[in-house]
Amino acid sequence: MRMLIIGQGKTGRVVTEIARERGHSVQTLEEKENRDAGSLTAPNLASFDVLIDFTTPEAVVKNLRACLANGAKVVVGTTGWYQHLEDMRALTARKNAGLLYSTNFSFGVQLLYQLAKLLGNQAGGYQFKIEETHHTEKLDSPSGTALTLQKVLEATAYGASATIDAHRVKDAIGTHRLEVSSDNERIVVEHQALSRRSFAYGAVRGAEWLATRRGSFDFQDVFPQILS
Ligand SMILES: NC(=O)c1ccc[n+]([C@@H]2O[C@H](COP(=O)([O-])OP(=O)(O)OC[C@H]3O[C@@H](n4cnc5c(N)ncnc54)[C@H](OP(=O)(O)O)[C@@H]3O)[C@@H](O)[C@H]2O)c1
Repeated sequence: MRMLIIGQGKTGRVVTEIARERGHSVQTLEEKENRDAGSLTAPNLASFDVLIDFTTPEAVVKNLRACLANGAKVVVGTTGWYQHLEDMRALTARKNAGLLYSTNFSFGVQLLYQLAKLLGNQAGGYQFKIEETHHTEKLDSPSGTALTLQKVLEATAYGASATIDAHRVKDAIGTHRLEVSSDNERIVVEHQALSRRSFAYGAVRGAEWLATRRGSFDFQDVFPQILS
Protein backbone atom coordinates (compact mmCIF):
# COMPACT_ATOMS: atom_id res chain seq x y z
CA MET A 1 0.00 0.00 0.00
CA ARG A 2 1.05 3.60 -0.52
CA MET A 3 1.24 5.25 2.90
CA LEU A 4 2.06 8.76 4.06
CA ILE A 5 3.25 9.09 7.65
CA ILE A 6 2.60 12.62 8.92
CA GLY A 7 4.95 13.57 11.78
CA GLN A 8 8.42 12.12 12.24
CA GLY A 9 8.80 12.52 15.98
CA LYS A 10 9.32 9.72 18.52
CA THR A 11 6.33 7.66 17.38
CA GLY A 12 6.01 8.67 13.71
CA ARG A 13 9.56 7.46 13.05
CA VAL A 14 8.77 4.01 14.44
CA VAL A 15 5.49 3.87 12.45
CA THR A 16 7.54 4.58 9.30
CA GLU A 17 9.98 1.80 10.19
CA ILE A 18 7.23 -0.78 10.78
CA ALA A 19 5.23 0.21 7.68
CA ARG A 20 8.41 -0.33 5.61
CA GLU A 21 9.11 -3.66 7.35
CA ARG A 22 5.58 -4.73 6.35
CA GLY A 23 6.36 -4.05 2.70
CA HIS A 24 4.44 -0.79 2.19
CA SER A 25 5.59 2.03 -0.02
CA VAL A 26 6.08 4.78 2.54
CA GLN A 27 6.61 8.51 2.32
CA THR A 28 7.00 10.83 5.31
CA LEU A 29 6.01 14.39 6.09
CA GLU A 30 7.73 16.60 8.66
CA GLU A 31 6.59 19.84 10.27
CA LYS A 32 8.83 22.08 8.18
CA GLU A 33 7.30 20.69 4.95
CA ASN A 34 3.72 20.90 6.21
CA ARG A 35 3.07 24.17 8.07
CA ASP A 36 -0.70 24.64 8.40
CA ALA A 37 -1.24 21.34 6.55
CA GLY A 38 0.18 23.02 3.42
CA SER A 39 1.36 19.73 1.85
CA LEU A 40 -1.97 17.98 2.22
CA THR A 41 -3.43 19.11 -1.11
CA ALA A 42 -5.78 17.08 -3.30
CA PRO A 43 -3.11 16.11 -5.89
CA ASN A 44 -0.65 15.03 -3.15
CA LEU A 45 -3.29 13.09 -1.25
CA ALA A 46 -4.39 11.26 -4.38
CA SER A 47 -1.08 9.38 -4.45
CA PHE A 48 -1.72 7.56 -1.15
CA ASP A 49 -4.05 4.74 -0.13
CA VAL A 50 -3.92 5.75 3.53
CA LEU A 51 -2.25 8.29 5.86
CA ILE A 52 -1.15 7.99 9.49
CA ASP A 53 -0.87 11.08 11.73
CA PHE A 54 1.37 11.21 14.82
CA THR A 55 1.87 14.97 15.22
CA THR A 56 0.65 17.41 17.88
CA PRO A 57 -2.77 18.46 19.22
CA GLU A 58 -2.27 21.83 17.43
CA ALA A 59 -1.33 20.39 14.04
CA VAL A 60 -3.62 17.39 13.84
CA VAL A 61 -6.95 19.17 13.36
CA LYS A 62 -5.68 21.14 10.34
CA ASN A 63 -4.17 17.96 8.96
CA LEU A 64 -7.44 16.09 9.44
CA ARG A 65 -9.56 18.83 7.85
CA ALA A 66 -7.30 18.87 4.78
CA CYS A 67 -7.23 15.08 4.40
CA LEU A 68 -10.91 14.37 5.08
CA ALA A 69 -12.15 17.27 2.93
CA ASN A 70 -10.40 15.52 0.04
CA GLY A 71 -11.92 12.11 0.81
CA ALA A 72 -8.63 10.63 2.09
CA LYS A 73 -8.34 7.83 4.66
CA VAL A 74 -6.53 8.75 7.86
CA VAL A 75 -5.42 6.84 10.93
CA VAL A 76 -4.98 9.29 13.83
CA GLY A 77 -2.67 8.40 16.68
CA THR A 78 -2.26 11.97 17.89
CA THR A 79 -4.12 12.71 21.12
CA GLY A 80 -5.53 15.89 22.67
CA TRP A 81 -7.98 16.84 19.87
CA TYR A 82 -11.14 14.93 20.81
CA GLN A 83 -13.22 18.07 21.35
CA HIS A 84 -13.28 18.15 17.50
CA LEU A 85 -14.23 14.50 17.10
CA GLU A 86 -17.87 15.04 16.17
CA ASP A 87 -16.87 17.67 13.55
CA MET A 88 -14.33 15.29 12.07
CA ARG A 89 -16.80 12.41 11.99
CA ALA A 90 -19.33 14.64 10.21
CA LEU A 91 -16.72 15.76 7.67
CA THR A 92 -15.75 12.13 7.08
CA ALA A 93 -19.38 11.24 6.35
CA ARG A 94 -19.93 14.28 4.07
CA LYS A 95 -16.83 13.58 2.00
CA ASN A 96 -17.06 9.78 2.05
CA ALA A 97 -13.61 9.70 3.61
CA GLY A 98 -12.08 7.29 6.14
CA LEU A 99 -11.14 7.97 9.77
CA LEU A 100 -9.73 5.51 12.30
CA TYR A 101 -8.81 6.99 15.68
CA SER A 102 -7.56 5.85 19.03
CA THR A 103 -5.86 7.29 22.04
CA ASN A 104 -3.83 4.09 22.12
CA PHE A 105 -3.12 1.75 19.21
CA SER A 106 -1.29 -0.87 21.25
CA PHE A 107 -3.07 -4.23 21.21
CA GLY A 108 -2.29 -4.67 24.92
CA VAL A 109 -4.18 -1.51 25.89
CA GLN A 110 -7.18 -2.65 23.86
CA LEU A 111 -7.10 -5.85 25.94
CA LEU A 112 -6.86 -3.69 29.09
CA TYR A 113 -10.08 -1.89 28.02
CA GLN A 114 -11.78 -5.29 27.66
CA LEU A 115 -10.64 -6.29 31.17
CA ALA A 116 -11.87 -2.92 32.49
CA LYS A 117 -15.30 -3.59 30.94
CA LEU A 118 -15.43 -7.00 32.59
CA LEU A 119 -14.47 -5.55 36.00
CA GLY A 120 -16.82 -2.57 35.67
CA ASN A 121 -19.72 -4.86 34.78
CA GLN A 122 -19.11 -7.24 37.69
CA ALA A 123 -17.59 -5.19 40.50
CA GLY A 124 -20.45 -3.17 42.01
CA GLY A 125 -19.50 -1.43 45.26
CA TYR A 126 -15.77 -1.33 44.49
CA GLN A 127 -13.59 1.77 44.08
CA PHE A 128 -11.83 2.31 40.74
CA LYS A 129 -8.56 4.20 40.42
CA ILE A 130 -6.47 4.84 37.30
CA GLU A 131 -2.81 5.85 37.41
CA GLU A 132 -0.78 6.76 34.35
CA THR A 133 2.92 7.54 33.93
CA HIS A 134 4.45 9.11 30.82
CA HIS A 135 7.55 11.05 29.74
CA THR A 136 7.86 14.70 30.76
CA GLU A 137 7.48 15.99 27.16
CA LYS A 138 3.97 14.60 26.79
CA LEU A 139 1.72 17.57 25.99
CA ASP A 140 -1.62 16.30 27.33
CA SER A 141 -2.37 15.28 30.91
CA PRO A 142 -4.04 13.05 31.91
CA SER A 143 -3.25 10.82 28.94
CA GLY A 144 -5.91 10.17 26.32
CA THR A 145 -5.68 6.49 27.23
CA ALA A 146 -6.48 7.17 30.89
CA LEU A 147 -9.49 9.27 29.83
CA THR A 148 -10.68 6.49 27.50
CA LEU A 149 -10.27 3.94 30.30
CA GLN A 150 -12.34 6.21 32.56
CA LYS A 151 -15.09 6.40 29.88
CA VAL A 152 -15.03 2.64 29.37
CA LEU A 153 -15.66 2.20 33.11
CA GLU A 154 -18.40 4.86 33.19
CA ALA A 155 -20.27 2.99 30.46
CA THR A 156 -20.34 -0.30 32.41
CA ALA A 157 -23.27 -1.74 34.37
CA TYR A 158 -22.46 0.05 37.65
CA GLY A 159 -21.34 3.30 35.97
CA ALA A 160 -17.99 3.03 37.76
CA SER A 161 -16.51 6.44 38.45
CA ALA A 162 -12.70 6.21 38.41
CA THR A 163 -10.23 8.83 39.63
CA ILE A 164 -7.11 9.48 37.52
CA ASP A 165 -3.61 10.28 38.85
CA ALA A 166 -1.12 11.39 36.18
CA HIS A 167 2.65 11.20 36.71
CA ARG A 168 5.39 12.58 34.42
CA VAL A 169 8.81 10.91 34.59
CA LYS A 170 11.80 11.44 32.27
CA ASP A 171 11.96 8.81 29.46
CA ALA A 172 8.87 6.83 30.60
CA ILE A 173 7.13 5.39 27.51
CA GLY A 174 3.70 4.77 29.02
CA THR A 175 2.18 2.84 31.90
CA HIS A 176 -1.53 2.57 32.77
CA ARG A 177 -2.62 0.92 35.99
CA LEU A 178 -6.19 0.16 36.99
CA GLU A 179 -6.87 -0.59 40.64
CA VAL A 180 -10.22 -1.99 41.74
CA SER A 181 -10.59 -2.20 45.51
CA SER A 182 -12.86 -2.60 48.46
CA ASP A 183 -11.94 -2.43 52.15
CA ASN A 184 -10.92 -6.09 52.05
CA GLU A 185 -9.31 -6.75 48.67
CA ARG A 186 -7.63 -5.21 45.66
CA ILE A 187 -7.28 -6.16 41.97
CA VAL A 188 -4.54 -4.45 39.95
CA VAL A 189 -4.26 -4.62 36.16
CA GLU A 190 -1.30 -2.83 34.60
CA HIS A 191 -0.21 -2.26 31.02
CA GLN A 192 3.34 -1.13 30.31
CA ALA A 193 4.43 -0.08 26.85
CA LEU A 194 7.97 -1.47 26.65
CA SER A 195 8.67 0.21 23.32
CA ARG A 196 6.90 2.60 20.91
CA ARG A 197 6.63 -0.33 18.52
CA SER A 198 3.48 -1.41 20.41
CA PHE A 199 1.60 1.74 19.28
CA ALA A 200 3.23 1.89 15.87
CA TYR A 201 2.42 -1.72 14.99
CA GLY A 202 -1.26 -1.24 15.90
CA ALA A 203 -1.46 1.97 13.86
CA VAL A 204 0.01 0.27 10.77
CA ARG A 205 -2.33 -2.72 11.17
CA GLY A 206 -5.17 -0.19 11.51
CA ALA A 207 -4.07 1.58 8.31
CA GLU A 208 -4.03 -1.72 6.40
CA TRP A 209 -7.60 -2.32 7.63
CA LEU A 210 -8.87 1.22 6.88
CA ALA A 211 -7.43 1.34 3.35
CA THR A 212 -10.36 -0.71 2.00
CA ARG A 213 -13.10 1.06 3.99
CA ARG A 214 -14.92 4.38 4.33
CA GLY A 215 -16.49 5.93 7.43
CA SER A 216 -15.41 6.77 11.00
CA PHE A 217 -14.16 4.05 13.29
CA ASP A 218 -12.96 3.91 16.88
CA PHE A 219 -10.08 1.40 17.03
CA GLN A 220 -11.63 0.00 20.23
CA ASP A 221 -14.74 -1.10 18.27
CA VAL A 222 -12.95 -2.63 15.28
CA PHE A 223 -9.95 -4.05 17.17
CA PRO A 224 -11.39 -7.62 17.28
CA GLN A 225 -11.71 -7.58 13.45
CA ILE A 226 -8.18 -6.21 13.05
CA LEU A 227 -6.78 -8.76 15.49
CA SER A 228 -8.43 -11.73 13.76
N1 LIG B 1 -2.58 6.68 19.88
C1 LIG B 1 -1.43 6.11 20.27
O1 LIG B 1 -1.29 4.89 20.33
C2 LIG B 1 -0.27 7.01 20.62
C3 LIG B 1 0.97 6.47 20.96
C4 LIG B 1 2.05 7.34 21.16
C5 LIG B 1 1.86 8.70 21.03
N2 LIG B 1 0.63 9.18 20.75
C6 LIG B 1 0.37 10.60 20.50
O2 LIG B 1 0.94 10.91 19.24
C7 LIG B 1 1.37 12.25 19.23
C8 LIG B 1 2.85 12.29 18.85
O3 LIG B 1 3.60 11.70 19.88
P1 LIG B 1 5.21 11.67 19.83
O4 LIG B 1 5.62 11.13 21.14
O5 LIG B 1 5.67 11.03 18.57
O6 LIG B 1 5.50 13.24 19.81
P2 LIG B 1 6.74 14.02 19.18
O7 LIG B 1 7.99 13.22 19.35
O8 LIG B 1 6.71 15.40 19.77
O9 LIG B 1 6.40 14.10 17.63
C9 LIG B 1 5.48 14.96 17.06
C10 LIG B 1 6.02 15.33 15.70
O10 LIG B 1 5.03 15.98 14.93
C11 LIG B 1 5.71 16.97 14.17
N3 LIG B 1 4.76 17.93 13.63
C12 LIG B 1 4.17 18.99 14.23
N4 LIG B 1 3.36 19.63 13.36
C13 LIG B 1 3.42 18.95 12.19
C14 LIG B 1 2.82 19.11 10.91
N5 LIG B 1 1.97 20.12 10.64
N6 LIG B 1 3.13 18.23 9.93
C15 LIG B 1 3.98 17.21 10.15
N7 LIG B 1 4.61 17.02 11.35
C16 LIG B 1 4.31 17.87 12.34
C17 LIG B 1 6.71 17.55 15.15
O11 LIG B 1 7.71 18.27 14.46
P3 LIG B 1 8.56 19.42 15.23
O12 LIG B 1 9.19 18.74 16.41
O13 LIG B 1 9.54 19.84 14.18
O14 LIG B 1 7.57 20.47 15.62
C18 LIG B 1 7.25 16.27 15.80
O15 LIG B 1 8.30 15.70 15.05
C19 LIG B 1 1.03 12.80 20.63
O16 LIG B 1 -0.24 13.42 20.57
C20 LIG B 1 0.97 11.56 21.49
O17 LIG B 1 0.13 11.73 22.62
C21 LIG B 1 -0.43 8.36 20.55
